[in-house]
Amino acid sequence: MRKTVLTGIKPTGEIHLGNYIGAIKPALELARVQEYKAAYFVADYHGMTKVHNPEEFRHLSYGIAATWLALGLDPEKVIFYRQSDVPEIFELNWILSCFSSKGLMNRAHAYKAMVDQNKQSNNDKDFGVNMGLFNYPILMAADILMFKTEVVPVGKDQIQHVEIARDIAESFNNNYGETFLLPEYQIQEETGVLPGLDGRKMSKSYQNTIPLFVEPKKLQQLINKIKTDSLPPEAPKDPHTSSVYFLYKEFATEAEALRMKEQYLKGIGWGEAKKELFTVMNKFLAEPREKYNELMSSPEMIDSILKEGAEKARSITVPFLQEIKSKIGFHVS
Ligand code: ADP
Ligand code: TRP
Repeated sequence: MRKTVLTGIKPTGEIHLGNYIGAIKPALELARVQEYKAAYFVADYHGMTKVHNPEEFRHLSYGIAATWLALGLDPEKVIFYRQSDVPEIFELNWILSCFSSKGLMNRAHAYKAMVDQNKQSNNDKDFGVNMGLFNYPILMAADILMFKTEVVPVGKDQIQHVEIARDIAESFNNNYGETFLLPEYQIQEETGVLPGLDGRKMSKSYQNTIPLFVEPKKLQQLINKIKTDSLPPEAPKDPHTSSVYFLYKEFATEAEALRMKEQYLKGIGWGEAKKELFTVMNKFLAEPREKYNELMSSPEMIDSILKEGAEKARSITVPFLQEIKSKIGFHVS
């Protein structure tokens, strides 16, 4: 039996380079590993905790799906679906919520961050917190446990959520006997966190991103905005502290990256380094960008791929949910 590797991305913003390097690229690499069966999805119910405008929500949800496909996800090899097309996940969400202590949710980082922010602004501690946000980790546990997932590739900020999924699975198993597998997270240590245009973590919350599929001219402009130091062109530069080099090596071949590293050590002007970065990035992104635009202009194509994915997913979730419900004591026909 192959191990299941599963991950989701929520549609709360345009996919940016940080998402690509930190989440999508490693997940696509894992999907190529023979010993894994991959299940990747659009976490649209999770996105709903933040995005309440229907047009925007629809656009962002298609955007996530189109991004995965444009970057080479093969829906024949990966179970690729929309969370909301698999209703068993949502049923499991309720079941698991009866095994999740409120105290555990109080400590979940997204909720805690909101409470801290409210305290600082002298607001009621729960100001602006909807129950979707509060319950977020339980739905994520349902996503993971429903597929007997063993490996969850995520960014560092999501480690706590995978640990919560393990806790909930253990509580359930202790009561009804071995049912859920305990998942492990997998972090992309060597990639690290990609800084944004202002030097902070690239994140849609900070509006400092380079979206993955912007048009070439805009891409060039955004690259030119990446913060650098004020060393003169001829001064040697440390490639390891430069986000321009960080990005370069993600898109260049190994030989190109090595050559660029040497140029940094000898001294290269930032203008020149950024021009080189644009060249390798644009070369890599040209084809996926075209595919992305094509998919976004025919959403029915995306729908049909996701529908097939949901059918595959449900061939797993429907019988497993029956098994779970019969353990609990529900009438199962
Ligand atoms: P954002 O911070 O833009 O809201 P998300 O929280 O939706 O991004 O993250 C989606 C995935 O992309 C997660 O796995 C996360 O760890 C990864 N990710 C986000 N920003 C970066 C970054 N700057 N560098 C590396 N990985 C990132
Ligand atoms: N919470 C994840 C994020 O913000 C998205 C997500 C939802 C997820 N369900 C998941 C990731 C299940 C891995 C597994 O990035």
